[in-house]
Amino acid sequence: MEFKPERDEGIDSWKEVTLVYNAALRQVETKMEILNDEFQHVHQYNPIEHIKARIKTPESIVKKLKRNGYESTIDNMVKYVNDIAGIRVICSFTSDIYRIADMISDQKDIRVIAVKDYITYPKSSGYKSYHMIVTVPVYLSDRIVDTKVEIQIRTVAMDFWASLEHKIHYKFEGAAPEHIRNELVECAKLVSDLDARMLSLNEEILTISHANENT
Ligand code: GTP
Ligand code: MG
Repeated sequence: MEFKPERDEGIDSWKEVTLVYNAALRQVETKMEILNDEFQHVHQYNPIEHIKARIKTPESIVKKLKRNGYESTIDNMVKYVNDIAGIRVICSFTSDIYRIADMISDQKDIRVIAVKDYITYPKSSGYKSYHMIVTVPVYLSDRIVDTKVEIQIRTVAMDFWASLEHKIHYKFEGAAPEHIRNELVECAKLVSDLDARMLSLNEEILTISHANENT
């Protein structure tokens, strides 16, 4: 893998890219874990089911740059590839997604660059998820580098759909037959219905248990 080492105000080598993005990813992951722990402490309940964090491989970074017509330079990676560091937060209920998103946005050292709410506005594929691009400051020995992290927040059910759809998408190299695409959109509707029913069930359970606490 060849990267032209061009001087950038923040990052100047592939090794440094890995180091800085890894550090940013770990910080966001820790922030999520702390929010989850605190939630458990205050509300006796964990909004986060699990977290997956990954660094994009050099191959997919180069592929993405090429797809968008950019040369494979460190400058271009840092500028145009927003998902070098990616974290997926899987929640129990739809309401948890917005709660987590708000709590993370409210943190002073986090800057939200972009939000895509594919829950309110699902993709035509049926895909639902809440996406944020944020920056987090990474403290190096001689400077601070604001580093981008892509956060995807979704429910267990949305994640189940997205994983299977992703596999099917790859199997057909992005051109699945129409009836399969339609079926996937139908399945996405079932997933949304399931999430809505689980949410209202949970609300009912909470009301009952609060009523019991007060008697
Ligand atoms: P990418 O170039 O793929 O990163 O997309 P983008 O920069 O236009 O951003 P977008 O928010 O649309 O998608 C970012 C990521 O969300 C993708 O890399 C996937 O992980 C996920 N995603 C988006 N659309 C779909 C979809 O239709 N199906 C599945 N399974 N995942 C999707
Ligand atoms: Mg991506």
